[in-house]
Amino acid sequence: MKIQVVENVYWVGAIDWNVRNFHGYTYTTHRGTTYNAYLILDEKIALVDTVAAEFTEEMVKGIKELVDPAEIDFVIANHGEVDHSGAIPTIMELAPQATLVGTAKVQETLSRYFGPRDWQWQTVRTGDEISLGQRGLTFIEAPMLHWPDSMFTYLPEERLLLPNDAFGQHIATSQRFADEIDEWVVFDEAAKYYANILWPFSRLVLRKLEEVQKMGIEIATIAPSHGLIWRGDPGLGDILQAYIRWARGEAEPRAVIVYETMWGSTERIARAIAQGIMEEGSEVVVRGLPMSDRSDVIKELLEARGLLVGSSTHNNDMLLNIAAFMEDLKGLRPIGKIGAAFGSHGWAGRAVERLGQALQEASVDVVDEGFSFQFAPDADELAQAVEFGRKFARKLKAA
Ligand code: FEO
Repeated sequence: MKIQVVENVYWVGAIDWNVRNFHGYTYTTHRGTTYNAYLILDEKIALVDTVAAEFTEEMVKGIKELVDPAEIDFVIANHGEVDHSGAIPTIMELAPQATLVGTAKVQETLSRYFGPRDWQWQTVRTGDEISLGQRGLTFIEAPMLHWPDSMFTYLPEERLLLPNDAFGQHIATSQRFADEIDEWVVFDEAAKYYANILWPFSRLVLRKLEEVQKMGIEIATIAPSHGLIWRGDPGLGDILQAYIRWARGEAEPRAVIVYETMWGSTERIARAIAQGIMEEGSEVVVRGLPMSDRSDVIKELLEARGLLVGSSTHNNDMLLNIAAFMEDLKGLRPIGKIGAAFGSHGWAGRAVERLGQALQEASVDVVDEGFSFQFAPDADELAQAVEFGRKFARKLKAA
């Protein structure tokens, strides 16, 4: 299928309606996703990114509606991860005279994935240009946004930025533009994408946005490699502002309570803490694991300043689902959060201590020594938990 993005630039990607996880179940994709590939027609023809291998036939069909694939002059690989590079071996067979263009790192990535190939390569760096005839492509390296090999491609004549994973969202829809679907849905998925993929690289995101501005790059359309295309305001300005806000760690004085419980005692305390937070007039969400999805909770934390984590003690440590959440959080390195731990125990309350350590390892500022109690909370302890929540809410407002 082909859809025009700007004049003589076509989406020739694929919609993956059924994918429900990414990166080995670290990220759930409830709404599916798309793999966006773009065909630029000029005196020379360029294909920017491809699709996951199983959608190769669909992409080739879309290209054939416009040109004979053998006429492609450049295949631009903005990033080597297989969801974007899976169709490269086939397209290079169909366009044997095409030059594969990308960073030195993407060449390494693709060589590892596909083995030695007789492909003609052009390695590019920031500021390098390729003329297509009437128009041209400019390249901007974007290492660690989100792999070392990542790069943005820019078509100045159309003010079109093709940034691969950046600004993407995992949404499968029949629409191709962000302004064609419910704004809340597209921003919700963009936030989930940022929190679960780009959060650890926030400093680099800010630096890259500044660099792009200094290069005088004007942007009218952002066409990422997953989900909807951002064009015009308000969508385009809003997503750029959202990226700045997320990268700076700006957040609201609200709390996320995430916990795992064995026999319901830790859950009762979670609810009492939430009551205290609400009594102070602050917002809170309460998420039990594993009933709530880990990558959804990570998204909810993106714009919340406070994180309270709870677990029963099991084998002298925290329970396994909350342990996985804390491990995930450590890798994501959230900025500017305050936190505290709580939990029940039978004879040794190690879970609260371990959760406190895990919060610190995840760069969260631990503002309370935590709330620990034995077996089941009595009325007095439930009242203390409400007060614990109230105190945390006041700290949220002051942070
Ligand atoms: Fe990093 Fe969408 O691949």
